[in-house]
Amino acid sequence: MTTADVVVSQLSLEQLAAMVSGADDWRTVAIPELGLAAAEVSDGPHGLRTETGVDQVWIPSTAFPTASALGATWDRDLIRRVGVALGEESRAMGIQLLLGPGINLKRTPLCGRNFEYFSEDPVLTAELASAYIDGLQSQGIGACLKHFAANNQETERTEISVEADERTLRELYLEAFRRVIATADPWAVMCSYNRIWGTHASQHHWLLTQVLRDEWGYDGLLVSDWDAVHDPVAAVAAGMELEMPGTGGRSAAAIVAAVNEGRLERAVLERAARRVVAFALRALPDGRPAPSPVRDPGIVPGQPLSAEQRAGLGEEAHHQLAREAATAAMTLLRNQNRVLPLAADSTAKLAVIGGYATVPRIQGGGSAGLEPLRVDQPLAAITAIAGDRVSYAPGYPLARTDFYREFEIEGPADADALRAEAVAVAEAVDVVVAFVGLPIAAEVEAADRHSLELPADQVELLKSLVAVGKPLVVVLAAGSAVTMDEWHDGAHAILLSWLGGQGVGTAVAEVLFGRAEPSGRLGESYPMRLADTPGHDTFPGADGVVHYAEGPFIGYRWYDAQHLDVRYPFGHGLSYTDFAYGEAELVAADGDAVEVAVSVTNTGQRRGSEIVQLYLEPPAGGPARPPRELRGFEKLTLEPGQTATARFRLGVRDFAFADTEAQCWRQLPGRYQVVIGSSSRTLHARLDVQRQAASLPFGPSAVS
Ligand code: BGC
Repeated sequence: MTTADVVVSQLSLEQLAAMVSGADDWRTVAIPELGLAAAEVSDGPHGLRTETGVDQVWIPSTAFPTASALGATWDRDLIRRVGVALGEESRAMGIQLLLGPGINLKRTPLCGRNFEYFSEDPVLTAELASAYIDGLQSQGIGACLKHFAANNQETERTEISVEADERTLRELYLEAFRRVIATADPWAVMCSYNRIWGTHASQHHWLLTQVLRDEWGYDGLLVSDWDAVHDPVAAVAAGMELEMPGTGGRSAAAIVAAVNEGRLERAVLERAARRVVAFALRALPDGRPAPSPVRDPGIVPGQPLSAEQRAGLGEEAHHQLAREAATAAMTLLRNQNRVLPLAADSTAKLAVIGGYATVPRIQGGGSAGLEPLRVDQPLAAITAIAGDRVSYAPGYPLARTDFYREFEIEGPADADALRAEAVAVAEAVDVVVAFVGLPIAAEVEAADRHSLELPADQVELLKSLVAVGKPLVVVLAAGSAVTMDEWHDGAHAILLSWLGGQGVGTAVAEVLFGRAEPSGRLGESYPMRLADTPGHDTFPGADGVVHYAEGPFIGYRWYDAQHLDVRYPFGHGLSYTDFAYGEAELVAADGDAVEVAVSVTNTGQRRGSEIVQLYLEPPAGGPARPPRELRGFEKLTLEPGQTATARFRLGVRDFAFADTEAQCWRQLPGRYQVVIGSSSRTLHARLDVQRQAASLPFGPSAVS
């Protein structure tokens, strides 16, 4: 079999230089005579966005819930199955590398791409991303972990320099990557657009070579974000391997000149080219393009796929899985007087209000926006259950947009008239279900939000519906936190449907009527107000620089350290049943690791799932640390009366902070508190654990 070494040994300088940039937007360079085919990549991450050949026209694929929604499932097994399905669709599409998952942390809820990210916590993020990669790569399709690193805002995203201290990077922003690389071995890592300490990530030797390669021992492919390379010679010298998209020979010419003039070592170029070749051989070991039951019969841009093509993508099974995942993500924030679930067999009349009930928010905009194979409509799914008890009013105008073809909004746009009509409909029924959410323009690549409010028309509508005085259920679509001041207390229930992918309509209906449980839990804190949020004073930076002055305190770490009230804490989500927790017990100690167990009983009347969360609280002393940090979680699904035990293993890394002076993870001696909660602020059991002084290198092994 051809090896990368054999191929590279036969390449001329010009061929080596050509190898380290793409052939075009989505493909690597092929050298058929050496058995090297062009590997093809595609966005990503929650479905395939593969070009039809016409600009901005994409081949339809299954739109799974976005990462923000998957992050709320806390369900490794489910996300692994989503990864498998994405792998099957990639294979059917003839794609070898899917550009995802995105694992940047939600530093501020204002980041426009938060919907593409799992959480504000590195452990939750890494665990779920690893499950996704595990599933995807089990199908022989590579994952591309992105965006490395500290890409936490979209404002000035290609130039902004992140000034975060090394400890903050190590404990938060790099940590998610380190954990995933140690456990899931993604085929590729994509660098980010931003600069760190003044240097672009694509040209950052410390980041790409010292940390990723030398410390973590990463052996896969490093890809640039699209057009993130500014100086191809500096990029290769720093450790970058594949510049995307291709530059039509411009970068190759610069690299050849640099080698000839002694500004770049040929050996460094050979190493980069070897990784690209190794990737192409891994992706297409037979040396020819992969057959595709979707593309080979031919694609007509903008036209529906044939039944065979849809079957080739696994449409039916994947739509069911998209529904299942959307259902698992449903997060019940509030449920006064148990207004939910609604009785499916009652005679109560129901008003469904809001345009998002007919055109659901399923995803955000930008490179992650794809053409869904189909979309379940919430109104239709509700009507299928409650029949002619349901009436509908659009309630507020929606911006007409064909941004990645998500909406086709018709009809009148006068907000006052729409609101008056909705109020009249609400007055005539027994229960009101209002669909609201962020517009797609608020959740896109290359722009951040400026406020945490819902659009003013929707807020006015909700206030009017509160005034009607009927039981009010708010179904909220948003990929990141919103504020609720003006309507929260008047809403009896709030169900967060995230950006739940193409099955979200059915998922909402199933949860509303109790056919499924709301098993989602917040992967990010919901603050009271924008001014409370971490980084508020520094976001989005000035003069090309953003200072992460809050240090290793984002999300719940920040709100806890600042003693700030939150609207809903990280990890929060109500169930339709109840759970009781036993004592936390130390069940084993082996070497440096301890094992903690806690039993949980379903004390209610329905089957239900609980996410058991383990947090660690450090002793006083050492550098300022977050009051508590998530170190483990388990999802337990229990029948009424059933008890199960969640088990957690904790090692030195879990107790440690990043000691950047000594360049290691340092566990200070002392008494730590293990805390078991159903959110970061709903705590059920505590346990003291005494630890001795210990340390671990910053390398890959220190996962726990
Ligand atoms: C995005 C990446 C994406 C790439 C290719 C970039 O603008 O930041 O996430 O994978 O484009 O579409």
